[in-house]
Amino acid sequence: MSFEPDPLTWARDHTPVLVSFQEEYSDSQPLSGYTVAFASHLESKSGVAIETLHAAGAEVLFAPSEPQSTHGDVVETLDQRDGITAFAWEGMTDEEFDEAQHQLLEEEPDFILDDGCELIAKCHADHPDVAARVVGGGEQTTAGITRLEAMDEEGVLEFPVYGVNNTPMKHFFDNVHGTGESSLANIAITTNSLISGQDVVVCGYGYCGRGIANKARGMGAKTIVTEVDPRKALQAHMDGHRVMDMNEAAEAGKLFISATGNREVMRAEHFERMPDGATLANSGHFDVEIDIAALEELADAVSTPRDGVTRYHMADGRKLNLLADGRLVNLTGPYSHGHPAEVMDGTFAMMFVAAYEMLVDGTELEPGLYNIPDRLDRAVANRKLETLGLSTESLTESQQAYYEEWQHPDSHF
Ligand code: NAI
Repeated sequence: MSFEPDPLTWARDHTPVLVSFQEEYSDSQPLSGYTVAFASHLESKSGVAIETLHAAGAEVLFAPSEPQSTHGDVVETLDQRDGITAFAWEGMTDEEFDEAQHQLLEEEPDFILDDGCELIAKCHADHPDVAARVVGGGEQTTAGITRLEAMDEEGVLEFPVYGVNNTPMKHFFDNVHGTGESSLANIAITTNSLISGQDVVVCGYGYCGRGIANKARGMGAKTIVTEVDPRKALQAHMDGHRVMDMNEAAEAGKLFISATGNREVMRAEHFERMPDGATLANSGHFDVEIDIAALEELADAVSTPRDGVTRYHMADGRKLNLLADGRLVNLTGPYSHGHPAEVMDGTFAMMFVAAYEMLVDGTELEPGLYNIPDRLDRAVANRKLETLGLSTESLTESQQAYYEEWQHPDSHF
């Protein structure tokens, strides 16, 4: 017997929690009657997330969250199924990406699962009638949560949104391990250079930056961290990294990776100081962390020495190498496949339960940004442990009582 794999086969093999939802809900179809919009980097793992929503009965409309990270074979495979519609193709321009998101919104989804808050923001700005009818949403990433917080503060949100990124099941694993491993793997493959022995500067020591810096050090890099938050800077110091400001780091580093969620973290004054042959990569969000306009202005010429590497030839003879056009290096480079499937299993499982909780369990919330209830995060963690064949301890009665009592009979204090 021969088995014909499809573009989702490998990801399915490594996303057992999503597959367990498919198996559990394919008969009962709890999401039947709902149209769920799904915006994400479109590749095999998000493909499994889309087919999981569909298996549970939802009609799914999907669009990219970033125009450059779409894998066409995944889009075509999903788009062929009844009840799944693609507003995406590989190689979209920024304008086509915008237009496709608008077209999706015109189909009036009931629920929006987003990555970066672009679809939710467009819905509010340009499709107010649709926003008024949307039941709720979920947001996957840090930068999207920042936008939603701004919307919530301004009081413009029309529906409740679960901040999926804020759950431990997402950011403890996806941001730290997923971004850490996939960024370094893609930088190594794109440059065909050693990370071991390199002076690696990581800008930002949040969840992503911490993962990148610690894994780079594990590979033998000499790591430097830059931060704006004094506590994070101290944390980096005590984790054993060198901490300095970006002007100093620009002179000391050779490979620069940003993961801040902020703009122009590497800019002209830093490019002026970087050594010949320095490599610049962005693992944060969008393409704004590295000031590409400033690089272009400083350069006399631009060349492409390798696929995925843009070389800026400085007037003083130095060459600076920018990876993946300054977009997310782990998702948009020529060899990029995004995060390992095992971590995306947890992230997309949390997106699925966000939709399930609001649509099926009928949790009624006022418009605003909400944390997902902890019981759902624990339930997904338990499901993941089960698929790994790992078990945990349970509290004994006396241990539970010890937590609940403030007057401990055996206390010596
Ligand atoms: P975080 O908020 O935990 O960490 C960001 C850190 O950057 C903070 O500690 C902040 O103080 C620091 N920072 C801000 N401006 C800075 C500057 N100018 N210089 C140095 N440090 C600065 O956020 P997290 O979860 O680490 O995410 C970071 C970015 O990565 C976000 O944009 C997020 O959306 C993105 N992300 C990317 C992924 C990918 O696949 N590449 C996956 C997950 C998140």
